[in-house]
Formats: sequence, C-alpha cells, structure tokens
Amino acid sequence: MAIFKQLSTTLAFSALALSAAIYPREDDTISTKPACVKADALVPSFQKSIDTILFDADYKNASIERLSGAVQIPTLMDDDPPNPEEDPDYYSEFITLHNYLNETFPLIHKNLKLEFINTFGLLYTWTGSDASLKPMLFTAHQDVVPVNNDTIDDWSFPSFSGHYDNKTDSLYGRGSFDVKNLMIAHMEAVEKLLEDGYQTDRTVLLAYGFDEEAGGSWGAKYIANHLEKEYGQGGIMVMFDEGPGLVKLGNNTYVAAIPNAEKGYLDAEVTINGVGGHSSSPPAHTTIGVAASMITSLEDNPPFFSFNIENPLYGFITCAAEYSTLLPMSMKKVVLGASTNKTLENLLGLTLFTTELTKNYVTTTQAVDLIDGGLKANALPETTEFTTNYRIAYGSSVANTKKRFLKYANLTAASFGYGLIVDNKQIINTTSLGYINVSYVASLEPSPVSPSSGPTWDLLTGTIQNLFVNDLWGPQNLDNNVYSASAIVTTNTDSRHYWNVTDTIYRFIGAVTSPTILETIHSADEHVIMDNHLQSVAFFYEFIVNTNEHGQEIK
Ligand SMILES: *[C@@H]1O[C@H](CO)[C@@H](O)[C@H](O)[C@H]1NC(C)=O
Ligand SMILES: *[C@@H]1O[C@H](CO)[C@@H](O)[C@H](O)[C@H]1NC(C)=O
Ligand SMILES: *[C@@H]1O[C@H](CO)[C@@H](O)[C@H](O)[C@H]1NC(C)=O
Ligand SMILES: *[C@@H]1O[C@H](CO)[C@@H](O)[C@H](O)[C@H]1NC(C)=O
Ligand SMILES: *[C@@H]1O[C@H](CO)[C@@H](O)[C@H](O)[C@H]1NC(C)=O
Ligand SMILES: *[C@@H]1O[C@H](CO)[C@@H](O)[C@H](O)[C@H]1NC(C)=O
Ligand SMILES: *[C@@H]1O[C@H](CO)[C@@H](O)[C@H](O)[C@H]1NC(C)=O
Ligand SMILES: *[C@@H]1O[C@H](CO)[C@@H](O)[C@H](O)[C@H]1NC(C)=O
Ligand SMILES: *[C@@H]1O[C@H](CO)[C@@H](O)[C@H](O)[C@H]1NC(C)=O
Ligand SMILES: *[C@@H]1O[C@H](CO)[C@@H](O)[C@H](O)[C@H]1NC(C)=O
Ligand SMILES: [Zn+2]
Repeated sequence: MAIFKQLSTTLAFSALALSAAIYPREDDTISTKPACVKADALVPSFQKSIDTILFDADYKNASIERLSGAVQIPTLMDDDPPNPEEDPDYYSEFITLHNYLNETFPLIHKNLKLEFINTFGLLYTWTGSDASLKPMLFTAHQDVVPVNNDTIDDWSFPSFSGHYDNKTDSLYGRGSFDVKNLMIAHMEAVEKLLEDGYQTDRTVLLAYGFDEEAGGSWGAKYIANHLEKEYGQGGIMVMFDEGPGLVKLGNNTYVAAIPNAEKGYLDAEVTINGVGGHSSSPPAHTTIGVAASMITSLEDNPPFFSFNIENPLYGFITCAAEYSTLLPMSMKKVVLGASTNKTLENLLGLTLFTTELTKNYVTTTQAVDLIDGGLKANALPETTEFTTNYRIAYGSSVANTKKRFLKYANLTAASFGYGLIVDNKQIINTTSLGYINVSYVASLEPSPVSPSSGPTWDLLTGTIQNLFVNDLWGPQNLDNNVYSASAIVTTNTDSRHYWNVTDTIYRFIGAVTSPTILETIHSADEHVIMDNHLQSVAFFYEFIVNTNEHGQEIK
C-alpha cells in the first residue's frame, strides 16, 4: 500500500492557508500555550559510526551498492498471492533476495538468529544481554508492487535498475522508497553496530514480511503470531514500520511526523439478483439500473467528518500552526484554539474536511472500485455486482460504516421493491423482482493509538533531536529547528497484524522525506535520496543505542 501520500507539510499547509481565507484576520497574537514540542536531545555515549554513516563518501558508495542490489531483485507481489507452501515457485525471487542479504550482511548472518517464518518471512533475532527487557522490533516488507507496463517510458531510469543518479543524489527503482530502503537501513545499522563491537542489552528483532502489498496475511500475520507465542501479548516494547519522516515547515524548520495510528478498512460486496430473460420484455429497472441507483445514493451522501483534537493528526497540524510561516494568523488561531474551545474544534474539523488535501485524514472515505454485470446486449442481466471500499476514520468504526451502508441498501431495496440480505441475514423478504445481497468481505477497525508522550516517545523524539540537530546539521548550522508530532496514515501497513504484541507502533523511517518523493510511490520514477537514506541508517543505529542507554526503565 502506498504510504502517507498526502501528509506533507507543504501541501497540508497550502491547503490550510487557502481555507484560512474564509476567516477574517483579527489581531495577531496567540494566547494559547505552545503545544508543538521540541524534545530534549538524547545523546548516546556510544556513537562510533554516526559520522561515518552520515558523512563518509566510501560508506555512502557502499550503501548505494547495497540498496541498489536489493532494488534489482524484482520481488513482485500480486493481489492474491498463493500459499507459499503450495506454490513456492511463485516466490523464487524472494530466495534470490535472501541469498543477497546473506552475502551483503555477513555479520548479521553470523551473529543473529535467522528464522524463516511461513517459508519466506524473515525474522532476525539479536539477543540482548538482559532477557528481562522486552525486545524492540523493526519491520518492513520484502515485496514490491509491479510496474505498470504503460508507465515504463515515464521512468528516467529503468524500473528495476537501482540506478544511482549522482546529479540528484537519487537511487531509482521500484522498492527504492517502498520499502527496501527501510529494510536495508535497519540491516545496515545493525551490521555497523556489530562491526563496531556493540553488544545490545535489549533484544533487537528485524522482521520482514513478503506480501504487504497484498495485505500481509502470509507474511506479517505469521510473523506476528510467532512473536506472540514467543514473547506473549504486549511482549514487544516498541515497533517501527514504514511511514513518513521529517517534513520541512520552512527555512531551517522541520517537523518529524510520527504516525501513531492508521485508519480502518471495509470492503462491502453487493450483488443485485434480479430476473433474467430476453431484453425485449424488460422490467422498469434491470439489476444494472438498481446497482447504479444504489451507487448514486451512496456517492450523493458521503460520510461526514469525524474529528476531534484526540485525532493524531492534530499534533502535526499544531506544529504547522505554530511554526509555519505560510499559515495566516487567523487560521493559526483556529488550530491552536481548538484544544480548549469546542466551537473552534468543530470549525477545524470542518475546515480540514472541506480542504481537498486534508479531508481524507478526517473522514471515512468511500470508493466504488469494482463493478460487473451483464453478458449480452439482448439478454437481461440476472446479476450485477459491485464492491465499495472504505477507509474508516479515526473516531468511527467498522460497525458505524456498516450501519450507514445498510441504510442505503435498505432504501434502495425498498424503493425498487427488492428483498435484502445483509451478512446472510434476511432484512427484507425476497420478492418476485429479486433481492440485494450485501456481504462484508474484509474489515479492520481504525488502529489503536500508540502513545505520543511518555518514556518511549521521549526516547524516539530525543533521538530525532540529537541526530538531526546535533549530529547532522549542528556542525554546519545551529539554527535548525526540529519538532516532533503525532500523525495518522490513511492506508494500512503490515503493522495491522502486530496489535497484540505491542501497543507502541510508530510508522516512521527516521529521514527527511519530501512530498515529491511520496508521489512516486507505486508510480513511475520511485526513488530515494541517498543522503536521506543514510539518515535512516543513522537513526536506527542511534535509536538502538539510546534505548539501551536511556531506556532501561522501560519494561
Ligand atoms: C564512489 O563510486 C563512484 C562510482 O563507482 C566512484 O567514481 C567514486 O570514486 C567512489 N567514491 C569513493 C569515495 O569511493
Ligand atoms: C549464507 O551463506 C553461507 C556461506 O555461503 C552459508 O553457509 C549459509 O548457509 C547461508 N545462510 C543462509 C541463511 O542462507
Ligand atoms: C508487462 O510486460 C512484461 C514484459 O513484456 C510481461 O511479462 C508482463 O506480463 C506485462 N504485464 C502486464 C500486466 O501486462
Ligand atoms: C557526485 O560525484 C562527485 C564526484 O565523485 C562528488 O564530488 C559529488 O559529491 C557527488 N554528488 C553527490 C550528490 O553525491
Ligand atoms: C527561505 O530562504 C530562502 C533562500 O534563502 C529565501 O528566499 C526565503 O525568503 C526564505 N523564506 C522564509 C519564509 O524565510
Ligand atoms: C470559542 O471561540 C469562538 C470563536 O472565536 C468564540 O466566539 C467563543 O466565545 C469561544 N468560546 C469560549 C468558551 O471561549
Ligand atoms: C429499512 O427501511 C424501512 C422503511 O422503508 C424502515 O422501516 C426500516 O427501519 C429500515 N431498516 C433499516 C435496517 O434501516
Ligand atoms: C418473510 O418470510 C418469512 C419466511 O418465509 C415469513 O415467515 C414472514 O412472514 C415474511 N415476512 C413478511 C413481512 O412478509
Ligand atoms: C450472498 O452473498 C454471499 C457472499 O457472496 C454468499 O455466500 C451467499 O450465498 C449469498 N446469498 C444469497 C442468498 O445469494
Ligand atoms: C489478538 O488476540 C485476540 C485475543 O487473544 C485474538 O482473538 C485475535 O485473533 C488476535 N489478533 C491477531 C491479529 O492475532
Ligand atoms: Zn510499503
């Protein structure tokens, strides 16, 4: 799934700026206290290779090679991958990738335990010296989406070349940003720590599913079950999965957007069952007409917004309001005032909802994605089927979404004189015209919200502060400001399978991320900027060390 396409500060910002035009400018002071937090930097005492990772040309060259090699292996994933035990041939490229990792990270393969979960899932265990501490877990996925043949010509460099373009410092190819970059970054960090002779107190787990782009039910699901057996419910301290990173708010000002939640999911499958026969003697409405009417009523009445200041997006919007130079003062006041004023809270929700670039973060989205009906021009279609996909907003639920769907199915059935079955339950008796059959084929509640304060959050944000301000930018420019904020993603990652093993999940890659790169995910010219990739490597290196040095009390 594409990650976090739209939550880029620049975009969200200009959107807010536009919507702010409807508010009058008043005085230019803000009375609420600042809520966007700059964390205290956490300085690790062990940081042997941080400068090498960030600044050394040889290290960078070697890193380019490591990532390029991984991108060149086309570990493609379709929508319905076969059972890996029954059809291992489908997964042959994954074996190539495993051999490649084995060659590329010799110390990891020498020192860590490697388990193959459900044949192609990878679980590396770096056993810590203190078994009483819950492990930290870093996840990514090995698979990539295919390249659409129609877009082959839109690529600046071939889509599986892993080509490094020195002019733009970019490495190109499918998977270079979604998300082999993340898998390789974890492994580079651990390999370097091993090379540096580092011993971890807390166990470090690296886990890589192989069908995230198809929902993760062969890969991540099995890995998560395995971890639950091994460490118990809640047995993992913290988990990092794919997501965004630091986004630029203005000159020298960045916010680390840390999604600690993701939206839910529902697919509603509908079959309109009607009468067949010759089309010379049709009913007033064929099943296609009934389906069209139901789709129209669903689209004409889209879900409204669901927003309050508990929405993780509010953290990010708050930072934008406090530190963006683009946002008008009147709009800043709405954002910041929302924390204590219900009227402003609703106004903010409405504003985010009516703004194209932010609306998907505050509402359940609805998209009719599949339709099928009819066989011949002179035959009545006995059935017409369509599928509607929902991404359920924070604050809503699968039950709410089903309830709304039932309303429109019921209205359609009643107005056309059809019966109605929902989830195999007869709601309206089948009539001589037919019946509408609704079934919900896949569903997921909006995720639990992971902590955005407390010791693990402080470790994370303190590491970000130290890495970016002190290690990376400090020497050149002490004016850089980095803030950290919660956020939410509109798509689902493999992390959906891990809710039982940890309540602390951050979808964050620890690198500066630009909006233009996010737009290349699942599309042409997917690429990663190598200097940003090296930030990820340094981030995971430093987070592991900081957790050992500053997080001993976290059980
Ligand atoms: C990095 O690789 C490029 C191309 O392979 C080479 O020209 C350059 O000298 C290398 N730089 C270092 C520091 O090794
Ligand atoms: C990695 O490569 C070594 C050396 O070729 C081999 O002995 C080992 O079995 C390989 N390990 C895996 C997990 O493939
Ligand atoms: C795309 O092209 C490749 C190579 O020509 C071919 O193997 C593949 O089946 C095509 N994919 C689709 C979806 O048409
Ligand atoms: C491109 O290569 C040249 C020469 O090797 C090097 O000086 C320069 O820093 C490289 N550019 C980037 C963006 O890495
Ligand atoms: C940011 O820096 C650029 C280049 O120095 C400058 O042109 C621009 O005005 C600055 N923007 C703000 C908001 O300070
Ligand atoms: C909330 O904000 C609105 C709009 O600025 C204002 O009219 C109202 O008095 C405020 N309510 C409270 C309780 O402060
Ligand atoms: C279905 O519609 C009828 C009126 O046409 C209404 O009485 C009934 O409550 C509705 N049922 C549901 C579940 O919405
Ligand atoms: C619906 O069908 C059932 C079983 O055939 C029957 O008992 C019931 O009376 C019917 N309900 C209506 C409202 O016709
Ligand atoms: C309704 O749809 C479900 C799912 O496709 C199917 O299992 C069930 O048999 C259908 N019921 C009827 C009466 O068509
Ligand atoms: C989590 O645990 C609950 C209760 O033990 C179980 O019903 C559920 O299936 C588990 N969820 C996953 C994703 O494994
Ligand atoms: Zn991904």
